[in-house]
Amino acid sequence: MASTHSPRLQTDLCGIPLASPVMLAGGTAGLLDETSGVLRLDDIGAIVTKSITRLPRQGNPEPRITWTRAGMLNAIGLANPGIEVFESEIIPRAASVPCAVIGSVAGFTIEDYLAVAAAMERAPAIPMVEINVSCPNVHGGVEFGADPGALQELLSALRPVLGTTRMLVKLSPVTVGTPHGPADLARVAVAAGADGLTLCNTIPAMGVDVRTRKPLLANITGGLSGPAVHAVVVKIVHDVYRKFARDAGVPIVAAGGVTRWQDAAEFILAGATCVQIGAGSFVDPKCASKVIKGLERWTAGQGVSAIRSLVGEIDFDHE
Ligand SMILES: Cc1cc2nc3c(=O)[nH]c(=O)nc-3n(C[C@H](O)[C@H](O)[C@H](O)COP(=O)(O)O)c2cc1C
Repeated sequence: MASTHSPRLQTDLCGIPLASPVMLAGGTAGLLDETSGVLRLDDIGAIVTKSITRLPRQGNPEPRITWTRAGMLNAIGLANPGIEVFESEIIPRAASVPCAVIGSVAGFTIEDYLAVAAAMERAPAIPMVEINVSCPNVHGGVEFGADPGALQELLSALRPVLGTTRMLVKLSPVTVGTPHGPADLARVAVAAGADGLTLCNTIPAMGVDVRTRKPLLANITGGLSGPAVHAVVVKIVHDVYRKFARDAGVPIVAAGGVTRWQDAAEFILAGATCVQIGAGSFVDPKCASKVIKGLERWTAGQGVSAIRSLVGEIDFDHE
């Protein structure tokens, strides 16, 4: 597999240099570098680790992944070895990964998040964390991300613990029925110390086997991702960019249904500095490499020397 190594694709996220704007989304690429056999990781901008909790978790019973006609339903339930094992067995390998490593932090209480964040902060090979406040597949997984007060309290507690480690905050796409839109929550997150925003986690969803009348997932509900959610997230990214992030100078990392380079390019034009690939890697393990190659050709075709100059290059006035 030839490397793309394109100066045009090099970018920067919160002061961290990246080989390209394409990342592997949290929880979809293993704990760390399990994809190194199929992807040139030196072309990838960053790997986001599986979300790590304070204690080990088995996750939800199986089946916990299934497919819809236009996307993927998952209810993994934050299965992970816990921060102690992650720190002793996985973090020591992070320095040899040829792209940036972003540690995904999850929890159920502020103390949980602090314990995981403190271990990530101790690791020089993890310059950035992504705070997962939007997992729909576990009880209490979205509590911090749905309530501005709770979000503010959590992030303000995390900020000093993280020191110079950059903090992305990963929000939910679902704010219907609440008085706060994604741009409001983004503002709260940044005021409390976030350096960037990841938009978005999966959408709570459900599927039924009509023959057996049983749920498709043992957990009954799960998170929808993949092509089905892409256009929803394009609007969220563009809204948050126009209403807040552009003027505040806060980078957006977009996640939702990137399976082709065109999807990634759309996110970049809408205001994303970087994009993440999740479900796309399950369909085609080489998806990220193909997206990177496509973005390189697109950037050249747009007549610019750096993909960064295409970020937010559309400005659609809409509501
Ligand atoms: C199997 C699976 C596991 C996931 N696990 C996590 C996780 O541990 N932490 C997290 O923040 N997001 C997790 N996600 C959400 C993805 O990181 C991403 O936000 C979402 O899937 C949207 O991107 P996509 O449409 O490219 O899949 C998971 C998604 C899938 C499909």
